[in-house]
Amino acid sequence: MITPKSIDEVKAAARVEEVLGEFIDLRRAGVNLKGPCPFHDEKTPSFVVSPAKGIYKCFGCGMAGDSVRFLMDHEKLSYPEAIRWIANKYNIELEETEVSEEVRREIQKKDSFFIINGFAQKLFQEYLLKTNEGRAIGLSYFKERGFLESTVEKWGLGYAPEDRHFLFNELKQGGYNLELAHELGLLKENRDFFHSRIVFPIRNLSGKIIGIGARTLSSNKRIPKYINSPESEIYNKRKTLFGLYFAKTAIRKKDTCYMVEGYTDVISLHQNGIENVVASSGTALTVEQIKLVKRFSENITVVYDGDSAGINAALRGLDLILEQDMNVRLLLLPDGEDPDSYVRKVGHTSFTEYVSENSKDFILFKIDLLLKEAGDDPIKRSKVVKDIVESISKITDSLKRNEYVKLCSRLLDVPEITIQKEANKLIKQQINKKSYSSPQFEKPRSEAEWDKDPKPNKQQSAIFDVNSHEAQERDIVRILMTLGDNFIDESKEIRVYDYVYQAILNIIEYFDNELYVEVIQEVAKAHEKELVLTPTYFLTHPNEEISQLAIEVNSDKYYYANWKSRGIELQTQAMPKDNYINDFTQSILRLKSKKLQRILEENQEKIKSISPDDVDELRIKLKVIMAIKTDLAQINNLLRNVVL
Ligand code: CTP
Ligand code: MN
Repeated sequence: MITPKSIDEVKAAARVEEVLGEFIDLRRAGVNLKGPCPFHDEKTPSFVVSPAKGIYKCFGCGMAGDSVRFLMDHEKLSYPEAIRWIANKYNIELEETEVSEEVRREIQKKDSFFIINGFAQKLFQEYLLKTNEGRAIGLSYFKERGFLESTVEKWGLGYAPEDRHFLFNELKQGGYNLELAHELGLLKENRDFFHSRIVFPIRNLSGKIIGIGARTLSSNKRIPKYINSPESEIYNKRKTLFGLYFAKTAIRKKDTCYMVEGYTDVISLHQNGIENVVASSGTALTVEQIKLVKRFSENITVVYDGDSAGINAALRGLDLILEQDMNVRLLLLPDGEDPDSYVRKVGHTSFTEYVSENSKDFILFKIDLLLKEAGDDPIKRSKVVKDIVESISKITDSLKRNEYVKLCSRLLDVPEITIQKEANKLIKQQINKKSYSSPQFEKPRSEAEWDKDPKPNKQQSAIFDVNSHEAQERDIVRILMTLGDNFIDESKEIRVYDYVYQAILNIIEYFDNELYVEVIQEVAKAHEKELVLTPTYFLTHPNEEISQLAIEVNSDKYYYANWKSRGIELQTQAMPKDNYINDFTQSILRLKSKKLQRILEENQEKIKSISPDDVDELRIKLKVIMAIKTDLAQINNLLRNVVL
């Protein structure tokens, strides 16, 4: 563990313009610096760095933070990794508390794994580029496929020679731990596992080599086309996407990710200028892989060959994507083409055009496909409906789900209400089966919590629960964190969070989400002490959960898109100044309406348990209920007016 003192030292040494300068072309603009935002695509720079304050903010997309935050967001480093990165840049020696012998050995072993893999990769690449065998067989094959030498270098491609003692001898001579090389799958019974094949290094998110995929050049059908490293302590196939290391920046900028099947597809598309592409490497998509993509974008387009066996796997896997609330589109390439052959044939512009024109929303794709297969057979058709409803039920966002219900009702020619009912049934089953929680709001439960209540708690099933107040609570927190420091009334020094805090004061105890309450408590503190809480304050908050939430609410656009589709006017994140008052008044009203409704129901429930003889008690309770009803009616009235 790095000591807090050491962390402070590193943070003090970090110059925001120098750290960010390694990734962005920054130009002077008065006291600040300006550059193109690395988090979204833009023509005119709106990314501003303030050396004096040590922070940055993009006025286009709202991303903001300090040097550490930047490294965490841009490079996807963890907090300690970011600290180490800066320490390394400024040659600061980190003071660390003693780690246990066990942990130290664990870290050393991991490092050794990476070193050995790196060594093997370098050897294979040298063999490819510098030996006769490598050039004649491997490199000429790559060239034939249209791979440039710069591509071969960038991806670290190589050639494993026929000699099955090549790597073994080199490892031995180099004094590497052969046991570890066996564990990595590079060696098998003291011989090379990969031989007579071209090799594709597989990297993790930070670029370290965790495994190898190797393709034979032989056309012998009995030899497997690809062999891959087995799983190891550093290689978990379910958690790996080939190419993500090189694709992550482009995925974020284009705000979409192409998912293809093969190593060669990824590399070929990259070489042709399409860099937001990764491969599932022939395995069915996993939730972990989807979550990896989701760190960079919520949009995925699966691009497979028309005759791919992967389609069915993908169709199955796609329910997983829906559960993650990703927007999924699917595209099948013309018969006989795969992404690699197709991009080489038509070029990068036509390729992207083709994808955007022909890709179909996943569920619509599934409906199409299944209906075609079912023909006019009524039994088969009803199975299709079931199947589709199943997919719909996997969508955790209820607004989005409703959109699909409408759409599918039309396409399947089944009344909306029927689909809705069936979906609800499945959703209930799912809740009972597993304690499902939306990834966005996911909060791991401690063992103690689980002991107390092994059944899913309200929080966890909140998304399926019509009584959930998650969206409304989150909206308040979004306002506090993203525009709370704006003045409502400059002369009176009243800021948005002062106003919002006052307005929700009496319902804070009814909040369901504890993290949100924590945020509100911060605001309460600031309110008392007249501190200013800027968005940066939250973005760089020492409590990881809060800073993470700050990032999320800064990019909550998808939420609002959906509100809009329901006819509710809501401002998106980059809000014109004169509109934010409208935004937060609505949000407060919506939250209050929800809370009052619940309080009303609770009171109505309570009144049932009062004995009819207890006239006084009954009278009091009735009075309370009447008061709540009046308030609620007033609020709902206001809301209706605002909405219209
Ligand atoms: N794959 C595998 N083992 C196999 C076949 C395929 O691991 N026996 C994985 C590889 O990751 C491969 C992907 O599935 O990249 C897609 O397979 P395929 O389309 O056959 O390979 P391509 O990458 O397209 O290779 P090529 O273009 O050289 O045929
Ligand atoms: Mn191919």
